[in-house]
Amino acid sequence: MGARLKGKNAVVTGAGRGIGRAIALGLAEEGANIVACDLGGSMDGSGTDTSPANLTAQDCRALGVEAIPHYGDVSNFQMAEDIISTCASTFGSIDILCNIAGILRPRMIFNMSEEEFDQVVAVHLKGTWNLCRHACVRMKDQGSGRIINCTSEAYAGTVGHTNYGAAKGGIVSLTYALAREMGRYGVTCNAFAPRARTRLSVGDDQDSGLQKRIQAGLISEERLRGMEETRKEGADPEYFAPFIAYLASDAAADINGCVFVTSRATIGLWNHPQITRKFTRDWEIDAKWDIDELQRLVPQELLLDYENPAPPQK
Ligand SMILES: NC(=O)c1ccc[n+]([C@@H]2O[C@H](COP(=O)([O-])OP(=O)(O)OC[C@H]3O[C@@H](n4cnc5c(N)ncnc54)[C@H](O)[C@@H]3O)[C@@H](O)[C@H]2O)c1
Repeated sequence: MGARLKGKNAVVTGAGRGIGRAIALGLAEEGANIVACDLGGSMDGSGTDTSPANLTAQDCRALGVEAIPHYGDVSNFQMAEDIISTCASTFGSIDILCNIAGILRPRMIFNMSEEEFDQVVAVHLKGTWNLCRHACVRMKDQGSGRIINCTSEAYAGTVGHTNYGAAKGGIVSLTYALAREMGRYGVTCNAFAPRARTRLSVGDDQDSGLQKRIQAGLISEERLRGMEETRKEGADPEYFAPFIAYLASDAAADINGCVFVTSRATIGLWNHPQITRKFTRDWEIDAKWDIDELQRLVPQELLLDYENPAPPQK
């Protein structure tokens, strides 16, 4: 039991299971008081159950901190306000926010319903923004705060999950923007893409989807390595929870706007997107780009080592 987060008060969403639970316990091990927020639904977001949040809160209390459950749905703006204000009114402040709640509704885009898109974006992206929005009001006033958002390597391109990939990409962009908006008020915002064996990452559906993607050559080597790490026996999120506790601590005051990858055996840093090649012309040229010239320049100047990640299949 450490004391790096003693006196700090944290909201962890998705705290009833998997990665959120490991993080709630990891923060509690360092002395933080916890609001363990979890709707308790199934993997696709249907249903509710109070017992996961209750159990996490109980297990945090057993570590010697104060902890309460909250069963709110993060995708609901008013409910998100209640989650944040419950932390502030119960413990006195909201110092740490970990947005971990998530669901899956995988399907190829040509089969995906509007509802499946909306629900996944609502829980991941809107839910993360909702909690950030309400926490930032209080964090700005107190001049300090730590926000840690959960993205996924799927943000860099996935198959059968356009809803999920888009939502997780949105969380990365939200993190970059929030870091820049809130840094001046002493608030940091970072994100991490976990590799952990949970009900969301390992199961029959995920296995068959993964096999199809490997066979179609749609998975990069690094992504495949990540997926192998995720699926290994013992790939428990408890192993990297101390990294999240570190990001939440005073020692990480100057870590802001970073996106990490975390697993039992790897802690990595994603690069920030940047323009890697360009061609330019004289600003005074008052004519549209010439399409023949573009057809020559783009492969020659921009896309030298480029390969289409998904060429048509013969
Ligand atoms: N497991 C992995 O390897 C992996 C990889 C990349 C990203 N992630 C992300 O990690 C996060 C946690 O996933 P997990 O693998 O621990 O899955 P999990 O299903 O074990 O846990 C997710 C928890 O979120 C809760 N939840 C879902 N919708 C909610 C809502 N609207 N409001 C409040 N709580 C809600 C669920 O009840 C559940 O307890 C997710 O955001 C997921 O996308 C996981």
